[in-house]
Amino acid sequence: MSNPSLLILAGDGIGPEVMAEVKKIIDWFGDRRGLVFEVEEGLVGGAAHDAHGVPLTDETMARAQAVDAVLLGAVGGPAYDDLDFSVKPERGLLRLRKEMDLFANLRPAQCFDALADFSSLKREVVAGLDIMIVRELTSGIYFGEPRGIFEEGGERVGLNTQRYTESEIARVARAAFELAMKRDKRLCSMEKANVMESGILWREVVNEVAADYPEVEVSHMYADNGGMQLVRAPRQFDVIVTDNLFGDLLSDVAAMLTGSLGMLPSASLGAPMANGRPRALYEPVHGSAPDIAGQGKANPIACILSFAMALRYSFDAGAEAGRLERAVEKVLADGVRTPDLMQAEGEAPASTSEMGDAIVAALEASL
Ligand code: IPM
Ligand code: MG
Repeated sequence: MSNPSLLILAGDGIGPEVMAEVKKIIDWFGDRRGLVFEVEEGLVGGAAHDAHGVPLTDETMARAQAVDAVLLGAVGGPAYDDLDFSVKPERGLLRLRKEMDLFANLRPAQCFDALADFSSLKREVVAGLDIMIVRELTSGIYFGEPRGIFEEGGERVGLNTQRYTESEIARVARAAFELAMKRDKRLCSMEKANVMESGILWREVVNEVAADYPEVEVSHMYADNGGMQLVRAPRQFDVIVTDNLFGDLLSDVAAMLTGSLGMLPSASLGAPMANGRPRALYEPVHGSAPDIAGQGKANPIACILSFAMALRYSFDAGAEAGRLERAVEKVLADGVRTPDLMQAEGEAPASTSEMGDAIVAALEASL
């Protein structure tokens, strides 16, 4: 069998810097664990716009469909703020999600013990936190039609449409229940069934799918209360399943609980391909951080942990994913810190590449 293939789309801002560290990790697994990947690279976001005038070319889109998994860095930046909406960097990412039909976005929010004091919440509230947010990613108000800005009654109107079919809800709910079965068997679904019909249907369909998972304890929350509960007592949650827009907001809230956005990975998964692997794109939750780009200050851990998710969800290498996650934990426990993880004055920060090297060394020590 040929080696599994990866398409790396480093993107903009700190994307290329953090991805350079992931490449070290990929090489390590090839050299030391016999997990050899065929790696190709392409452009996305502003980088693609600079080269080709579009945030994602048809050719790159086709390559993304052909490989076993895509690893993405970040897209966007102030240089692209004035671009037409249709060619903004974010459109490249949204096109990948939509055309690959990556309907289940897994966003774990885990609080590493070494970092529990970094959260804006008290250590007692966040220590040991381990939540999995499953965000619907290919439908809802992000993609619903009609949409646009038009004139009506002598003024401009901005319109977006929240729309969910029951099959769209059912498939993401099923993905969330499957995860819950492998975790603490608790699932909380969040919507606004008190004000939105799409929320009423969401709740009904989640309950229908729940019938196939009698072992999972199911609860429902209005998404506004869900946001409040995430800040009040986040450890009450195991798996949260929610729609595209609420998931965007709630996953940023959950991210901050852990202390640093620079730590959080994500996986976006679709239906299985012919080879049985899910269509998949892995990316850090953080953005392109243009303010620190090119200075060696970025934390590569979120992107590295996204590769760990790729090992687990695309390449059936859960044990190796665990090895990588433990290497990250060890490096943090040893006090290696990029600037986003520094508290005390006078500590010497590690650069992006020093952090990557430390994780490679911890991997080596794990053998
Ligand atoms: C995210 C981001 C994206 C989103 C942007 C960059 C389009 O905020 O992945 O959470 O809104 O989905
Ligand atoms: Mg977001």
